[in-house]
Amino acid sequence: MTEYTEAATVGIGIFGSGRIGQVHAANVALNPGSTLLWVCDPRLDAATELAQKYGARATDNPNDVLSDPAVQAVLVGSSTPTHMDLTVQSVRAGKRVLCEKPLDLELDVIDAARADAGPDIEHVMVGFNRRFDPNVAEVHRRVEAGEIGQLEQLTIISRDPTPPPGEYLAVSGGMFRDMTIHDFDMARFFLGEITSVYATGSALFSDDARAVGDVDSASLILTNAAGVQCQIINSRHCGYGYDQRLEAFGSLGSLRVGNQRDTTVVFDGASATDVKNPIQNFFLERYAAAYQIELQHFLTSIASGVAPSPSFEDGREAVVCALAAQRSLSEGRVVALSEFGL
Ligand SMILES: NC(=O)c1ccc[n+]([C@@H]2O[C@H](COP(=O)([O-])OP(=O)(O)OC[C@H]3O[C@@H](n4cnc5c(N)ncnc54)[C@H](O)[C@@H]3O)[C@@H](O)[C@H]2O)c1
Repeated sequence: MTEYTEAATVGIGIFGSGRIGQVHAANVALNPGSTLLWVCDPRLDAATELAQKYGARATDNPNDVLSDPAVQAVLVGSSTPTHMDLTVQSVRAGKRVLCEKPLDLELDVIDAARADAGPDIEHVMVGFNRRFDPNVAEVHRRVEAGEIGQLEQLTIISRDPTPPPGEYLAVSGGMFRDMTIHDFDMARFFLGEITSVYATGSALFSDDARAVGDVDSASLILTNAAGVQCQIINSRHCGYGYDQRLEAFGSLGSLRVGNQRDTTVVFDGASATDVKNPIQNFFLERYAAAYQIELQHFLTSIASGVAPSPSFEDGREAVVCALAAQRSLSEGRVVALSEFGL
């Protein structure tokens, strides 16, 4: 690992120049503690376009990034099936890694990567950005401080504005591993280890989801060892934008995170008194601050040598929850996570 001093900025390579790669590239360029050095993507034209925007170099060969001693850390924002291979190669090259969710769709691939990477896997961070949303973080801090007494129930509503295209759904691994994975991490963030999952769902409106045996609407109940429950409500569509709400209910009260708008201006008129602007449209807008704070946490963990959080293990456990949910949906029963060897 290249020595890092507080005065230096962290040299960064990004794998993937798609939607999330572009978010990370912009944030790396914005952060005085990091410098974008490389963008790597088999779509060299896309890598070049993104790299040029921030004065970085482009390549379609990961070795160019991994053999550059100025690269101290990489952000793996490529397509999901490439995550574990790029993570292991990067760890072996002595780089710190922030890997996007999900780590992989299959547990055996994740476990093989963990074994291949060795002890430095503890420095791999997983991109569960919602933990860094300032509102979610505040609710979490206040729950931990005991403000609502004993946490008894967590409710998460998470609805995307529109379903992804059919080609994406076909390789997504299903709603639970692709979309609900963020909510599983939220549940674990608040409740700690989950012991059982019950999931039910239907394909109500998406022919594409139906065609690949997936659901577009789901309700799940997760429980921890103490019996604290988390209810998750998901939909692949929502006519009023990206519906992201969370409520922590405890013995002394509740704390809620509501939807956000670009403006707090409220219209009052003769025919209506209401906010007329829709809620923020999708993750790029809603979690813009979260991605920036996530990156800062990653950079701080590199500078301090303290392992980042959420960790590789957090990424793995969220996938276990998703696999349990999939089994619950197909078998119509509560599934204990111990069935997956936990
Ligand atoms: N944390 C979040 O909020 C969030 C949001 C969106 C996507 N994601 C995750 O990020 C990943 C990418 O999603 P996206 O929406 O940006 O997809 P995308 O399809 O827009 O971009 C993926 C890019 O990765 C490139 N790629 C494929 N193989 C590669 C390889 N071996 N090396 C480098 N690049 C490679 C593709 O050519 C493409 O340009 C997915 O795993 C997704 O689940 C996370």
